[in-house]
Amino acid sequence: MSTRPRSPAPSTPAPGKLPLPELIEMKRRGDKIAMVTAYDAPAALLADEAGVELILVGDTAAMVMLGHESTVPVTLDEMIFLTRAVTRSARRPLVVGDLPFGSYEISDEQAVASAIRLVKEGGADVVKLEGAGRMVSRVRAIAESNIGVMAHVGLTPQSATKLGGFRAQGRTAEAALKLRADALALQDAGAFALVLEAVPAQVAGRITEALAIPTIGIGAGADCDGQVLVWHDLLGMYSGRTPRFVKRYAQLSDEIGTALADYVADVRGGAFPEEQHTYAIPDDELARFEEALSARE
Ligand code: KIV
Repeated sequence: MSTRPRSPAPSTPAPGKLPLPELIEMKRRGDKIAMVTAYDAPAALLADEAGVELILVGDTAAMVMLGHESTVPVTLDEMIFLTRAVTRSARRPLVVGDLPFGSYEISDEQAVASAIRLVKEGGADVVKLEGAGRMVSRVRAIAESNIGVMAHVGLTPQSATKLGGFRAQGRTAEAALKLRADALALQDAGAFALVLEAVPAQVAGRITEALAIPTIGIGAGADCDGQVLVWHDLLGMYSGRTPRFVKRYAQLSDEIGTALADYVADVRGGAFPEEQHTYAIPDDELARFEEALSARE
């Protein structure tokens, strides 16, 4: 695969990089924004070639890449490592580095320091964090440090335990009003976009209408300004249940499983490797090699 070195400096976007203000223009024009998660360089290259505007190096990496039960355990160092891999091959899409649990809750200073690490060491173009309330101040502090920050409300997996599990949010009038107020506060604090996760479509539609910044929905209906799906959900990288809001565009786990089983059978049965997979040695060199070996016996 090809990799494309690029500068991670946030203030000087790499040539061909989507300018951040273009997202607001897209909202104004009614053009939908496509975002997908990716966690490595080959995936980022494919997402770039498919034309997505945004690649999220999500903390879902904890579950889909690192085998944890939730998003909580992934560390900032791990997120930087994954983000660096993605930014090596994502040319046009803006790469959003996700701030993991524990890297921004303590103070505005901690949030800014973590965001700077994701940008400087990970090469992220912008960052994302979850929540409202005290997190509004984190968003403001990061935005004022000249780093683009995406907010995330509704179902916020880092606080799933507090929310009572992975369940839809904003399903009462009061909760919907609170979500709308949070969204406006995050916009006022300087967020450039807002992820709405697992929110009734009508509520997401009204929030989208109220904001000048784009909303990116996941389980939030068609009225959001854009959509995001997790790589492994979208491509069917595993079998079994998916959340209600996932549309599977492929079932790659079946294809991968079949390919690997064929490989194992070929290795065991001697069908792989064949002549075409091996390297030649000139006949005279082989003869000399054999002679030398015989002389040693
Ligand atoms: O971490 C992630 O992948 C996310 C998306 C589900 C929006 O936050």
